Amino acid sequence: AGTPYLKVTPSQLRAMTGRRGKDAWTALGGRVYNITPYVAFHPGGGPELLRAAGRDGTRLFGEIHPWVNYEGMLASCMIGMLVEEGEDKK
Ligand code: HEM
Repeated sequence: AGTPYLKVTPSQLRAMTGRRGKDAWTALGGRVYNITPYVAFHPGGGPELLRAAGRDGTRLFGEIHPWVNYEGMLASCMIGMLVEEGEDKK
């Protein structure tokens, strides 16, 4: 049996902006995280963190603090893997 991670497409990710009552999701290094619980704790501030919401935040994250161990910090917030459009149906 495979690991039961959710397969998240870019268009599904795009809906999760943290606005309009939706949770905020971001993708980092191919993993998708629900960052909603972390918004209030981000040392760089909530609005700054939410710039990565609804999209792949890998580049933004790496430009600012490549030394931060997001895999460790966000392990309990990981909800799935980013896949290409349509790959969630396979
Ligand atoms: C600072 C975590 C995403 C912008 C920090 C720090 C941590 C952290 C631990 C303190 C780093 C240090 O002092 O060495 C995270 C995690 C993220 C994330 C787990 C996962 C999504 C982002 C994104 C942005 C961002 C997407 C920008 C768009 C900043 C800024 C600071 C900061 C500007 C510096 C705050 C300051 O020193 O005044 N973040 N971050 N972060 N983060 Fe993030």
